[in-house]
Amino acid sequence: MIKAFVAGHPIAHSRSPLIHGHWLAEHGIAGSYERIDVAPSDFPAFLRGLRESGFRGGNVTIPHKEAAFALADTLTPRAEKIGAVNTLIVAEDGRVHGDNTDAPGFCAHLDHSLGAEWPGRGEAVILGAGGAARAIVVGLAERGVARIRVANRTPERAAAVAALAPGVAEPLAWDDLSSALEGAGLVVNTTSLGMKGQPPLALDLAPLPAGAAVADIVYAPLETDLLAAARRRGLAAVDGLGMLLHQAVPGFAAWFGVRPEVTAALRDRIVADLAT
Ligand code: ATR
Repeated sequence: MIKAFVAGHPIAHSRSPLIHGHWLAEHGIAGSYERIDVAPSDFPAFLRGLRESGFRGGNVTIPHKEAAFALADTLTPRAEKIGAVNTLIVAEDGRVHGDNTDAPGFCAHLDHSLGAEWPGRGEAVILGAGGAARAIVVGLAERGVARIRVANRTPERAAAVAALAPGVAEPLAWDDLSSALEGAGLVVNTTSLGMKGQPPLALDLAPLPAGAAVADIVYAPLETDLLAAARRRGLAAVDGLGMLLHQAVPGFAAWFGVRPEVTAALRDRIVADLAT
């Protein structure tokens, strides 16, 4: 029996067990994927004990992504660049390998939602400069987006994120957003604005060209005010759930040996759960 986990603090809200449980059942795999609440002070010992606990690997989420980056024995170049790890793989010799699948997960989601030609839509404007923004800037640059502009309430953090893709990404003053939107093909909200319990993201989408797409990484609610405004303008609107589903694919493939599909049935199941 192959065992995997998701570790966070708190962890009760995580939908990852539902996603991996769905795929385990679909493929008839004798495996488990369990939710584990690990306090930050316990995380180093948890990581060191993974092999003895019989785990093949797992996901880490808030607040452990930076600690997992610091403690993993080896890292993918992508995780190294982003500075955060969300997927751990335990090798035969017990060494723990760290990857970041948020970047390819977000891009795979855009492939599904917009078609694989989306990097050609034009400049990207990223709102926010947290961990999700770091992964998305690295992902977009990998996919060849020619110019990425990063706007954040705290400008120093925008500059730090833009520095991850030199020559491609640059910081953008929050006050200059409106003029930047005139030339944008893709806008991505990575801030927590619009999330249940948070204020909405007040962004006037009027300057965006007709062919632009608007993506939100917030998935609770699924239809944020930002996405509703994009649809009203006739723009492509990409919700945040797909990133969560697609980032899970590489981990499942590494632990359980089958590359799973993000199907409409899986999505419907998570949407139903989010509604409860
Ligand atoms: P994550 O790692 O999940 O991306 P984070 O590091 O907490 O999360 O980042 C949250 C993002 O939302 C940040 O860009 C934050 O802006 P600051 O860097 O200025 O803190 C942004 N954010 C949160 N609340 C906001 C608000 N009320 N107005 C504007 N931006 C906000």
